[in-house]
Order: sequence, then C-alpha cells, then structure tokens
Amino acid sequence: MNYIDNAVNHYRALLEAQLARAERMEHAAPPKDFTTLEKVTIGVIDGDGIGPIISEQSMRVLEALLKDEIAAGRVELKRIEGLTIENRQAVGEAVPKAVLEAVKRCDVLLKGPTETPKGGTLESANVALRRELDLYANVRPVSVPAEGVDWTFFRENTEGEYVLGSQGIEVPGKLWMDFKVTTLPGTRRIARAAFEFAKKNGKTRVSIITKANIMKKTDGAFSAICHEIAAEYPDIEVDEWYIDIATAKLIDPKTRSRFQVFVLPNLYGDIITDEAAQMQGGVGTAGSANLGDQYAMFEAIHGSAPRMIETGRGAYANPASLMRAAAMLLRHIARPEAAARLEAALDATPNDGMTAADFTDAVLRHIGG
Ligand code: IPM
Ligand code: MG
Repeated sequence: MNYIDNAVNHYRALLEAQLARAERMEHAAPPKDFTTLEKVTIGVIDGDGIGPIISEQSMRVLEALLKDEIAAGRVELKRIEGLTIENRQAVGEAVPKAVLEAVKRCDVLLKGPTETPKGGTLESANVALRRELDLYANVRPVSVPAEGVDWTFFRENTEGEYVLGSQGIEVPGKLWMDFKVTTLPGTRRIARAAFEFAKKNGKTRVSIITKANIMKKTDGAFSAICHEIAAEYPDIEVDEWYIDIATAKLIDPKTRSRFQVFVLPNLYGDIITDEAAQMQGGVGTAGSANLGDQYAMFEAIHGSAPRMIETGRGAYANPASLMRAAAMLLRHIARPEAAARLEAALDATPNDGMTAADFTDAVLRHIGG
C-alpha cells in the first residue's frame, strides 16, 4: 500500500473541506435574539459517569427558577436521551443521529459530561456537538475575589487542534501526524466575541495567548487577526503572551490580578482553563458556555469522573459546576434575574463534601423555591 499517496489524497480532501467550512462561516445567518423569542426550549442531556447525577440536580434548580415561565409555556425543559458512551459505541457515532435531531429542535442545551474514549476512531461527543452546532466561543469565567482574580477565557472552540483531531494520518508503526487549522473567519469571530464581551462588561484589557514563535502559520495568523480586530476597540488595551509563560503568570500572585479577558486557540484554552479552574476551587466549581450564533451549550468544564462511579462515590459528585453553567445559560437566554438568583445561591453554598442531593437542597433553600 502506498501510504504517501493515500495521505496526500486524504490531505487534499481535508483542505477542501476546511476551505468549504471557512466559506460557510462567511455567510452565517445573524445571531438568534432571545429577547424576542416567544418560547425557549432548553434541552437537558445526562451524559456518562456522574453526568446523570449532576444533571438531575441541575434540572431541579432550573425547574424551581423557571417555574412560572414553564407554567406559562414560555420555557420548556426537554430531556434528551441517548447520548451515552454505550449507545455512541453501539452505533459508532459521536452523536447518534436521533440525538442530534432532538438537539437541533432546542435553542440551548444543558449537558452533563460525556466520556471521551482515548485512541480508536470514536470522536468526542463534545467536539462533535461543538462542530455540528458551530459553537465557536467557549467562554469560561474564573473568579477568586480574595486574590483579585476575575478572568474570562474566550477559547476558540471549533478549529485549531480539535477540528481534524480524529483525521490525522499515519504510516503504521512508524509515524503519526495530526493537523491544526486556523481560518480567517473562525479567528475573527472568536476575537470579536472576546472584545465585545470586554466592551460590554467594562473590561479594559484583552490578552492574546498563542505560541506564534513555534506554530508560525496557525498561531501566527491567530495573533495577527486578533490584533486586527483589536484595532476596532481603541479603548481596550491589548497584550500578548506565549502560552507557556501565560501558564506561569496565572499562578504568580504579583501578576495574575492584572489579567481580565483572554482570547486563545482551542487546545491552549482547554489546558489553561483547567489550571485556572483549579485556582478557583477545582474543576468541580467551574461552568463553561459553548456559544454559537444559533445554538448554545452549557456544561461543566470537567469530565464524567468514571472513577467516582467505580468507587461508589457518585452520590457525592459536586453539581456546582453544572449549576454555574446553568446560570450562564439563563443569562444567555435573557433571564438575568434568574441567573443572578442562582449565582447568589451558589456563592452562599460552599460544598464541603455534601452529596449532590443535599447540596441542591441547600441551593434551593437559598433560591427560596
Ligand atoms: C473540555 C473537555 C473537552 C475538551 C473534552 C471532554 C473533549 O476537556 O471541555 O475542556 O477537550 O474540550
Ligand atoms: Mg478540558
């Protein structure tokens, strides 16, 4: 078999598909406006491992907060079944067709963590959903008020190292090659999302994070395009860091409080947001929004924690992360009061080893529902 010829053909097909994707982005429809929508449908997906436990508890909280709107038919909470590792493996699809159809009938999703198999060919359900729904901005806030830390990460969510992560090439037993992709419209839209957020929220600085000294093509373009967008926001200061030193500066007490908003490629964003969440109290405390123009998906930043299930500690899973995500969901669908009530309840309810159900009871007492 001629591996090189095969690889060249494969590569040509990838390049064509990526150019077509960039082309589609240039003609995207205007974003959905939740302030004018008569009814919002919220899909709830359990996921794997601790997913069903924390999503059930988060549902209770959403039901309490949206009680009146649900009764009036302005909001619907819809459970979507079937996004489990067993089902995904049985049908060999990252997101089974029926699940994707159900998802597309919703406006926004609250999603429990799904297991991502290492190796093999089954793609991560997260990555597939982000791509299928074009959820290009992964927004991850981290705040540690006592340390002066109030960060919002804008992680590019549909390209970079992830978009072709399951489509690399190999010469079996000898060589393996993956691809990283940066496009002009893909970078413009994440940069714009970060600067718009900064402008609307009174932030004065955006930090661009790359490794453009090494990844010269992809990160080089990412950096240049972010600077081009930055020029449209003369009141916002811009700085730029390489990912390695940025990772160090986040844990430097002298510098970390100077950071406000970050914009960065996919994989760096994945890694650095776990570090940042750990400073806030662990990945169990952090929510994450995956925003597109038509759909949005809200989830915990952590995985499905299969070890907690195996060791019989599932009931102690901390639903705070998914509830933080639910608060971001409420804000996204233009329910800022409900979001603020949930955030205040979460701030007032530290979780020092409670069961998921007990923690939720405490949150519900604060909400008064
Ligand atoms: C995240 C997760 C996902 C990612 C996994 C589950 C595919 O780590 O949302 O940060 O790598 O993006
Ligand atoms: Mg991650």
